[in-house]
Amino acid sequence: MSHDSPSDETGRLTRRHYVAGAGTLATVGIAGCSDDGNGSGDDGGADDGSADDGSGDDGSGDGSGGDASSELEIIHWWTAGGEEDAYNAMLDGFREENPDVEIVDNPAPGGAGSAIDAVVQNRVIDGNPPSTFQIWPGQALTPYTNEGLLEDIGDSVWDDDMREAYLDDVVDLSSPAGDLVAVPINIHRLNNLFFNVSVVEEADIDPTDIDDPQGLLGALETIDAETDATPLAHQTQSPWSSLQLWENIFLGQQGVDDYQSILDGDVEGLEDEVRSALELLADYLDYVPEDAGSISWDQGNDELINGNAAVIHQGDWAAGQYEGASGFEFGEDWDMVPFPGTDGVYHSVIDSFVFPTNNPSPEATERFLNYAGSVDAQERFNPIKGSIPPRTDVPMDEFGDFLSRQFDDFQNSNSQPPTIAHGTGVAPAIHSALEEVFANFNGNLDVDTAYEGIRDAF
Ligand code: GAL
Repeated sequence: MSHDSPSDETGRLTRRHYVAGAGTLATVGIAGCSDDGNGSGDDGGADDGSADDGSGDDGSGDGSGGDASSELEIIHWWTAGGEEDAYNAMLDGFREENPDVEIVDNPAPGGAGSAIDAVVQNRVIDGNPPSTFQIWPGQALTPYTNEGLLEDIGDSVWDDDMREAYLDDVVDLSSPAGDLVAVPINIHRLNNLFFNVSVVEEADIDPTDIDDPQGLLGALETIDAETDATPLAHQTQSPWSSLQLWENIFLGQQGVDDYQSILDGDVEGLEDEVRSALELLADYLDYVPEDAGSISWDQGNDELINGNAAVIHQGDWAAGQYEGASGFEFGEDWDMVPFPGTDGVYHSVIDSFVFPTNNPSPEATERFLNYAGSVDAQERFNPIKGSIPPRTDVPMDEFGDFLSRQFDDFQNSNSQPPTIAHGTGVAPAIHSALEEVFANFNGNLDVDTAYEGIRDAF
């Protein structure tokens, strides 16, 4: 393994290096911890375990970076909805090819990784990283690449076959500082509006007729008046769902060019537009569940499945949950339209795995990343996860009608901008600051303060 970070003769990262890394990462981590303001940590409804500190259970985290442990410790946040099933399907495939590697599963539950940063960053700073961890490619990688904390896997994992098979843009996101450091496994779409067919029919709403974000407010009002269902199955326990809803309202109102200007930091030039999206978000938040502040995204989605809620704005991980629900069929019971005003846009959310330096299990980690980048892994994982593969050569016959339609939409899309809430489009310090803004906004709906927070974050 080659890496260009400071190291001593054993290949170990030097203490000086960790201290430097600690400063940067801790800044992001501390801000990231403010997600829910009460330290409860996550909005994952299925938190049957949480990432431990790795200090002793696997016996391999000695930081030597050189032993060939056959234990592979993975930190991820997929314990909710259909996500755990998708993750396990991928692990099954890996185990078939690598029966000698023992997987030490160490989840940090919480939608959109709301609890993972603190765990991973502390481990990395302590020189005791897991074998691999889940992270968004793109900007989210930069605190690690800035400090040389991820191995260059451009030769060891990314062979010619893999490079050719992957979409070029995804390869670019995996190398934010030049070296390839990540292996993406999926492409989710964020700009979806899912709905329960019979509930919207009862309200006499046809979601395909909703032309723009303002039109969605009218639909929510009608659903509220005409049915007993909660109009919008939204969670506010953790700020990320409101942040992603705001960015989709903005995209639906203003289009991709203005959205890109925001990513580039020009918030002041679009002050009225940013405020307008905040105002509409505040209006939507009148129509969320009474217990929105204490539920997870998948608990909200359960209400849509049960017919107690009409619509939800979520990434298509929500569809992974529908596929796992019995008697809840695509087309008949649920369907989706692009978030109003965003036709032709595939607002993409991507997950990847990386190879932290000072790796406790270099050989097993390399094998896992090789597998994660394979057709077999992506064919097992994505149909269950509700995502499409970033490789272009994965057979699509097992993906079902909904994901086949998403795939067509992706192929025919005019643009695939990265998201803010799911870390690919903005640096982690900005992401953390925005999460704090939306945690407050969820409580006080104060447009002036939120606007100033967004402006200052960028
Ligand atoms: C995203 C992640 C998805 C899904 C979602 C909900 O950030 O990329 O794979 O897990 O959060 O937790």
